[in-house]
Amino acid sequence: MKYRPLLRAFFIASCLLFVLQGSSLAKEKLEITHGPYLVEPAEDGMTIVWFTNKPCLSWVEYCGEGNFGTFPQWGGYPEIAKSSTNGLIDANSTMHSIRITNLEAGTLYKYRIVSKEILQYDPYEVIYGDSTVDEIYEFETLNTQKTHFSFGAITDMHERAAALDALLQVSPVDSMDMVFYTGDMLNWIGSEERIFDGLIDVSVDHFAKTKPFILTRGNHETRGPNARDLFPYFPHSSGKYYYAFSHGEVRFIVLDCGEDKPDTHPVYAGLVDFDNYRSEQAEWLKKEVNSEEFKNAKYKIALFHIPPFTGRGHGGIDLTEKWGPTLNEADVDLVVSGHHHRFNIMEAREDLNTFPVLILGKDMMLKADVSPEQLSLSIKDIKGELVDELIIPRK
Ligand SMILES: [Fe+2]
Repeated sequence: MKYRPLLRAFFIASCLLFVLQGSSLAKEKLEITHGPYLVEPAEDGMTIVWFTNKPCLSWVEYCGEGNFGTFPQWGGYPEIAKSSTNGLIDANSTMHSIRITNLEAGTLYKYRIVSKEILQYDPYEVIYGDSTVDEIYEFETLNTQKTHFSFGAITDMHERAAALDALLQVSPVDSMDMVFYTGDMLNWIGSEERIFDGLIDVSVDHFAKTKPFILTRGNHETRGPNARDLFPYFPHSSGKYYYAFSHGEVRFIVLDCGEDKPDTHPVYAGLVDFDNYRSEQAEWLKKEVNSEEFKNAKYKIALFHIPPFTGRGHGGIDLTEKWGPTLNEADVDLVVSGHHHRFNIMEAREDLNTFPVLILGKDMMLKADVSPEQLSLSIKDIKGELVDELIIPRK
């Protein structure tokens, strides 16, 4: 009995703590916690992704270069893009992913993101709270008529954000239209904080608000308990990690290599099916190289994490057998890959690869300059010093 007052005091203290915690959470200011960043660039669209600390309804306000004088003053009437799925506007989430469509090719757009807190979401009553409005940023849509442009590629940074930061500091990202991350930018997929800390935040700091990046999934991004939840962070309207798109005179093909070891290897615990997945992509690739967009392109560049034609590892051998003949027959100009952590350029070889395979090493960046005459590749290390160069003449 003598313990009863003590128990009562403990109960009251617990209740007070609960109430105080609740009220401090409620008073926490609505904030944009990560992003915005741009993915899936196209001639007629762009996807913008960001995150907030509280569930929100979100949208993007934007306008084309003809109306910059009045944006965002409301006399200019910006366009507004929201995202909806099966008739419901995407809302009540801390992740916000909105694709702007019906844009003009090769056009500069200003945009800003807006998130409005949902305080309470009941079946017949929704109560909104504060809104947060970010700064205005710009992006440019892709343009197949563009004759000169540059793009970048980085690989295998394995969540080393400080190294990625250093690399981006010495890299001329401002002069590039997009950056490819050719896989293993993360070690494995667990909490979303790993994705932010290891890759997204540093990309946003340097360029991703105004230039898109394209993640070519590496084998490490297929690992971990949350690997199946990664896609929304790098969304693509195809619903796939493999797809193709055009910019300037280039057709870019992004493929998804899968794991390096056999599907039956014990480390995968019976949870992967990459042989079939690479076969699925082989069928897609055959259709892609017969498309008008592919045939009309002057340069064809494929990007995937595990390099082909090395004879190393089950994944590399399997994708070489399944994708290699198509890439050869389609007269691809270049494959950009990583995975080995060691730089190498495999020149075209008779009866093997009919195109150079660039194997980027870790802590280096490719800058590729595209012109009507040639592809000019320049690879620099984390100190900004030249590693190698390669000219690929127009065929
Ligand atoms: Fe890898």
